[in-house]
Amino acid sequence: MPFITFEGIEGCGKSTQHRRLAERLGESAVATKEPGGTAIGQALRQVLLDPATRGLTPTAELLLYFADRAQNVAEVVRPGLDAGRVVLCDRYVESSLAYQGYGRGLPREAIRRLAELATGGLRPDLIVLLDVPVEVGLGRVGRRGAHDRFEAEEREFHDRVRRGYLELMAAEPERWLRLDGAANEDAVFDSLWAALAERGLLGGAGR
Ligand code: TYD
Repeated sequence: MPFITFEGIEGCGKSTQHRRLAERLGESAVATKEPGGTAIGQALRQVLLDPATRGLTPTAELLLYFADRAQNVAEVVRPGLDAGRVVLCDRYVESSLAYQGYGRGLPREAIRRLAELATGGLRPDLIVLLDVPVEVGLGRVGRRGAHDRFEAEEREFHDRVRRGYLELMAAEPERWLRLDGAANEDAVFDSLWAALAERGLLGGAGR
């Protein structure tokens, strides 16, 4: 069954679209997220996002994301796919390439090797990128109040992450669907649904 992931910078609207798609698909889908799709992952998420976590090195950060991912793939993603359900994951390997690779400057080849180890080489059938200009995304996040470790990063960090996503997409355009995250929420959802139906990725719901 299809494995679909959602990606984008802070405030791009991907979590909203991920939730709406999961709601619309109901029983035929499994929704999960990284970090924090499992109980163990929730504990890792706490460490990763808490502004009180100071001094975490970029490599340690990367490995914690992959620990969360290995757990999520084993506990939620593979069992969901094996049960014949569409699996929708809010962030996946491409987040590590964009944030830890392009954002923090860690070598992308090493990240790809870790992905092979942590996921057994499981790649999404489609990566949905909710693309927004950095000022739009950060503007939305700014209105949400409390900031996590990433939301508090400098503007240039988010610029690198967004450019990273666009570069990853340009290298393998057939694996990606880019949606305009600045557009109206309902319009984005309609485009998402239509694109998935066209690609036959909605399981039974698309027929
Ligand atoms: P997320 O829960 O998607 O938060 P938000 O809804 O605020 O975007 O992701 C939490 C943060 O973790 C987000 O700032 C991106 C970061 N992240 C990485 O840096 N690398 C990763 O591999 C993943 C999965 C997330």
